[in-house]
Amino acid sequence: MEAAEDYRRRVEEARGFIVSRAGEIPGLVMILGTGLGDMAARLDDPVVIPYGEIPNFPRSTVESHSGNLVIGRLAGCRTAVLQGRFHYYEGYSTRELTLPLRSLAAGGARTLVVSNAAGGLNPGFVPGTLMIITDHINFIPDNPLRGPNVDEWGPRFPDMSAAYTPELSAAAMAAGIRAGVAHLEYGTYCAIPGPSLETPAETRFLRQAGADAVGMSTVPEVIVAVHSGMRVLGISVVSNVNDPDNFVPIMIDDIIARSREAAADLERLLLELVPELCGNGADGSSAGT
Ligand code: HPA
Repeated sequence: MEAAEDYRRRVEEARGFIVSRAGEIPGLVMILGTGLGDMAARLDDPVVIPYGEIPNFPRSTVESHSGNLVIGRLAGCRTAVLQGRFHYYEGYSTRELTLPLRSLAAGGARTLVVSNAAGGLNPGFVPGTLMIITDHINFIPDNPLRGPNVDEWGPRFPDMSAAYTPELSAAAMAAGIRAGVAHLEYGTYCAIPGPSLETPAETRFLRQAGADAVGMSTVPEVIVAVHSGMRVLGISVVSNVNDPDNFVPIMIDDIIARSREAAADLERLLLELVPELCGNGADGSSAGT
């Protein structure tokens, strides 16, 4: 395993490059999942930095994820959008795939908003449901904090009793209701390694384990954010609902199409919510600036 010092040096290099191109790192960071990347287009005065130009950032291998760091203002709030993310199934360790977030956290980011496309396990969900994540189960056989700890970044054994900041979950629920989102739920997200999708038996198991939705991302980033002391809001866009007793094939093209449809709901919710995130000092400034 890479020495902690070498990893830290690579994170610092990425952070320094980002600051040189876009100025101070915003307090608010968004990571958007499959079919949900258009929030970046909403930023005012954007500075767009392709991942390929940022030292030590991984290179995206997934077609539905364009790789750019976009820094600008969203609803008046200075925001960094990681447009496109990296996955364990692409072959990266979770430490490697969280380097982009780590470089922003090391630069002072305070709040993470993370979204993903997920399969619904809760039979009460419908395709298009937005699930505000209140807890997770990590079935990815890796942890981004594995190996020597960098004490300046966070503790060796971070507490995960409230990984998803309860105040942000409640604020997101209220914002979603104000924005008229039809299907809005709370729930537990389970991360599996992928890339193969769940079998009916695995689906039954995950549901019995207490998960409401399943996907292949998010948990590594949330662990890094919690380690860094960031507040976290997670939202799953439920693209399909899997019934173990009446299982139908899960097709990636359908997942992407359903996610794109639900992206409009997610966008409305986030645009409603962002001013509050900013007002709470997420961007390091006071409300409305
Ligand atoms: N399983 C895992 N990941 C997913 C799914 C699913 O059913 N839908 C969208 N991402």
